[in-house]
Amino acid sequence: MPTRQPHRLEEPDTESMRQYCVPVKLRPFTRDQLPLVEPWFEDPETQRWLGGPDWPRMAVELADAPLGEFRGAQETGRYRFLAWDNDMPVGYVDCGTFDRWATWEGGSDGGGVVSVIDEPSGSIAYVTDPALRQRGYGVDMILTLMRARELGHVLLLAAGIEPENTASVRCMISAGFHPLDPVSDWEGIVYYARRRT
Ligand SMILES: CC(C)(COP(=O)(O)OP(=O)(O)OC[C@H]1O[C@@H](n2cnc3c(N)ncnc32)[C@H](O)[C@@H]1OP(=O)(O)O)[C@@H](O)C(=O)NCCC(=O)NCCS
Repeated sequence: MPTRQPHRLEEPDTESMRQYCVPVKLRPFTRDQLPLVEPWFEDPETQRWLGGPDWPRMAVELADAPLGEFRGAQETGRYRFLAWDNDMPVGYVDCGTFDRWATWEGGSDGGGVVSVIDEPSGSIAYVTDPALRQRGYGVDMILTLMRARELGHVLLLAAGIEPENTASVRCMISAGFHPLDPVSDWEGIVYYARRRT
């Protein structure tokens, strides 16, 4: 599998193996950039784990809707970024922010909010261009997001992943995330989280 070569040295990244890479740049994602990412959602893996070609458009349309409460947490913002390696778009990452992290148990016997981490939090979802996977962009994107100034108010970032999604699980682990609970929840999801430092 091809690896990315360093373009030039910048500040060393303390994230061990990735010291030789220049991190991707995250820039706010705009509606006119939809044609750049929509083809990534034709990919079966993207469709299986994230959604189909409508997904990015729905994310953009949601941007202007009023913030509300979701599963026991108050929304505080919605952020979406395109990740660039120089002038090449390589990935997309979406982060909804909340006033706390609330663990929700749904279903007919569900108890609603079953635990709370009382810290401003962000819930992330991400995709790498299918043609550019396994080159380190996924991990880079997450590590760069951890430093995004737009998310300066957020302490905890987390992503919900189905355990069968090996690529995403490995991506999270390499980015220093850990399961909040290793047992899948009522939707079959494990949430991986990491505090911003
Ligand atoms: C998950 C995803 C973003 C990873 O992107 P990526 O750019 O390929 O990730 P990286 O190259 O940074 O790889 C991260 C780790 O995952 C591993 N990995 C990536 N794809 C893999 C695969 N198909 N099978 C096994 N391991 C895989 C890499 O080897 C690497 O491991 P390491 O850090 O231990 O060396 C990408 O596969 C994707 O877009 N999937 C579809 C959408 C999706 O699942 N999003 C997440 C929803 S929660």
